[in-house]
Amino acid sequence: MVSAHNLVMHRPLVDRRCREKMNGHRSVVLWFTGLSGSGKSTLANAVSAYLHQHKVQTTVLDGDNVRFGLNSDLGFTHADRTENIRRVGEVAKLFLEAGMIVLTAFISPFHDDRVRARKLFDKADFLEIYCRCPLEVCEERDVKGSYKRARNGEIGNFTGIGSAYETPVSPDLIVDTDLTSLEESVASVLALLRQNGVIDAPPAIQLVP
Ligand code: ADX
Repeated sequence: MVSAHNLVMHRPLVDRRCREKMNGHRSVVLWFTGLSGSGKSTLANAVSAYLHQHKVQTTVLDGDNVRFGLNSDLGFTHADRTENIRRVGEVAKLFLEAGMIVLTAFISPFHDDRVRARKLFDKADFLEIYCRCPLEVCEERDVKGSYKRARNGEIGNFTGIGSAYETPVSPDLIVDTDLTSLEESVASVLALLRQNGVIDAPPAIQLVP
């Protein structure tokens, strides 16, 4: 690991506060966690689309997509997942500084990795959302056909089958995606944003200056 010796942080001329002021809302990280097929990406994208329509700056970091690019050198061992989540935390921080609402959709199965990600941020800047859905339901949905392949032994270390998913201990929000419609789930995330002073009351979102 390269040490931070001989490096000096450069203070940006246009900082987070300037960007938040221009955007008309503050930035925050929404960290979605849950099994594959639990609805993280669907929910994160639906929230992002809603906010975008209301002129809120958002970006979605999605597990599958990020693994095509930045993290294409990583697999699914414990160590690789830890590195995956470490990098995603750092990228989320960059987007936070850029004034965005950052929605990350990664299984992020390990408690310690999620805690480490959270520690990169001030308390108000990181909200963990647990997309809770029983393994049987995710497996039944099997949107990508991965569970079937994992059961057939074609994919090793698959979360929920060959690798653990450690349940979040105190998430900021739990969404039971097997019991709740997408619209209701979006509404609960918007309510969380409102409670945390990121946006004003949806649906007619008025942004906090
Ligand atoms: S994480 O565990 O490191 O957080 P991440 O969210 O980036 O996972 O990637 C999960 C996606 O990778 C899944 O949606 C699935 O499509 C794919 N995938 C491939 N192999 C595995 C595996 N062994 N376990 C879980 N997901 C896998």
